[in-house]
Amino acid sequence: MNPLKRLGRRRASVLSLLAVGALVTPVAATAAPDAVRASTLGAQAAQSGRYFGTAVAAGRLGDGTYSTILDREFNSVTPENEMKWDATEPSRGSFTFGAADQIFNRATARGQRVRGHTLVWHSQLPGWVSSIRDANTLRGVMNNHITTVMNRYKGRIHSWDVVNEAFADGGSGQMRSSVFRDVLGTGFVEQAFRTARSADPAAKLCYNDYNIEDWNAAKTQGVYRMVRDFKSRGVPIDCVGLQAHFGAGGPPASFQTTLSNFAALGVDVQITELDIAQAPPTAYANTVRACMNVARCTGITVWGIRDSDSWRSSENPLLFDRGGNKKPAYQSTLTALGGSAATQRSGVRSDRSAARSHKSAAALPSRFSWNSSGKLISPKSDATHNIAGIKDPTVVQYNGKYHVFASVAGSSGYNLVYLNFTDWSQAGSATHHYLDRTAIGAGYRAAPQVFYYAPQRLWYLVYQTGNASYSTNPDISNPNGWSAPRHFYSSMPDIIKQNIGNGYWVDMWVICDSANCYLFSSDDNGHLYRSQTPVGQFPNGFTNTVIAAQDSKFALFEASNVYKVQGSNQYLLLVEAVGSDGRRYFRSWTASSLAASWTPLAASESNPFAKSGNVTFPAGAWTRDISHGEMIRAGYDQTLTIPPCKLQYLFQGKDPNADGDYNLLPWRLGLLTQTNSSC
Ligand code: XIL
Repeated sequence: MNPLKRLGRRRASVLSLLAVGALVTPVAATAAPDAVRASTLGAQAAQSGRYFGTAVAAGRLGDGTYSTILDREFNSVTPENEMKWDATEPSRGSFTFGAADQIFNRATARGQRVRGHTLVWHSQLPGWVSSIRDANTLRGVMNNHITTVMNRYKGRIHSWDVVNEAFADGGSGQMRSSVFRDVLGTGFVEQAFRTARSADPAAKLCYNDYNIEDWNAAKTQGVYRMVRDFKSRGVPIDCVGLQAHFGAGGPPASFQTTLSNFAALGVDVQITELDIAQAPPTAYANTVRACMNVARCTGITVWGIRDSDSWRSSENPLLFDRGGNKKPAYQSTLTALGGSAATQRSGVRSDRSAARSHKSAAALPSRFSWNSSGKLISPKSDATHNIAGIKDPTVVQYNGKYHVFASVAGSSGYNLVYLNFTDWSQAGSATHHYLDRTAIGAGYRAAPQVFYYAPQRLWYLVYQTGNASYSTNPDISNPNGWSAPRHFYSSMPDIIKQNIGNGYWVDMWVICDSANCYLFSSDDNGHLYRSQTPVGQFPNGFTNTVIAAQDSKFALFEASNVYKVQGSNQYLLLVEAVGSDGRRYFRSWTASSLAASWTPLAASESNPFAKSGNVTFPAGAWTRDISHGEMIRAGYDQTLTIPPCKLQYLFQGKDPNADGDYNLLPWRLGLLTQTNSSC
């Protein structure tokens, strides 16, 4: 946004059809060298430091087709049943490791790592355990089992599923009934992890479960609370395994958010038992991409090799058919492993050119329609802040909350505010924390953008101060944690000076792929600029500023957003335009990479991304402007990934009759929800 001078409604007549259907001129598309693409799943995953594994059944190892694929494609194995309690300690104190050893020895001889599965589970549990009623006896039996099994492979198992499936399905968010919980109480999980740490300090200790992929599920929240509690109390836990047994629709839209949120607790996440009914290629790609987009998602295991090997055989959920041939999902998985996600680990670039060379898997529609909420967030003036409008929101979901930063405008100028809340019904009652009271300081600060820069484990708030500025904070929920402003540039880049005319340099926006971070900005004069720096140098080194798109002044005005579309090779560009009615609206474009040219998607006044004409207002038409805001993202890191479906956009709007000084207009925040989502 431009805080200094606004055009108001007087420009309406001159706009005419300038904006309609105008084509943005692509400038300076640069191509990075293509990556060396690996030809097997394990090798491709290894390029980003991850593993790609499969469940293995000892009884199938003699099948040549099976073992050939196993050794060619996978660099990790999980014994499908052979390390479970009924296999390893069928009667008390009598341990049998024949089949487990067979898988373990074969894998280690070939350099494949082994996941241990599983030590404490209510299922495939011998009757002699499930009939124990005495707590001391059961505790002793459980500890002895963990210790004995872990000891056998001590130092040589990469990760252990210490406890499997302890939580209940449904809405309780509590642990399920089992002999362990019923006799020992819920503390059995902690006990198991402590015992496991002592038995093999080298192994990563995982909690593994199914139906914890949807961030909104009560079961996910229950597991999340447990892991958070463990981390806060120092109970040893290193990872969360998400089984990912999916229906044909694949992962829920929030899957990456779930991975990110667990990872943010300080644990690795692993996809441990992936299979998807009918194996739709897009569903596999979406799953893999979510992992690739989360630095601490360290590997993926599919639950079997051929459809005929699957425990869900009738659903054909795997990557190879019964004859051992690669299915379409194999290719989409391989592509996604080398695809366009940001992995940010030790300089290894896993995505490189995939985004340029493959068609998108889950394209956005080319027309949009929306429902708008009423006004959700209004200014809250206090003794020292007389606020006329709240504007330019940026929003992430993190730790079960929405965190919103926005500009606040009034007669004394522009500064920033922060609020958080658990759901939109709470947004209006959230406390407003004015950031001029923090190290961010007083004076002109506006148009914030927030994201978590995973490589540095730090939150960034990007905003305008006349220059492009940022502050950092280790804890997004602590308003006082922000550092004093620093500048991205020493001064305005020359190309902007040459093109800005009578405009203003506004609305800085950062997005990164695995190789580079890009800083976009606008000039209220028809130009979208783009600078770049390698991810390892961020936030320093922004250079090579080019005009990424240009059009007439009002057709390409300001408030640009750029996002990665989850599960596809698409990036989405939104730019705010001023319509022929003088009202604000958004146009949209897509591109196959951040430095590629932008192709119109819904980019005209008659087919806008979001304008009052394609928005319905069930709560009353409180605004005709759909102005500066931000999409609700699927994650919160620097990749700015948005879901492909059911888009939501937090925007600023205002009373259609309000007039006068631009800086005193009564901007309020509302939420658009897409109504024509096909998925
Ligand atoms: C399954 C195996 O694939 C089957 O062969 C066996 O009959 C039952 O167990 N969650 C888990 C896995 O943690 O151990 C399960 O494996 C599948 C669900």
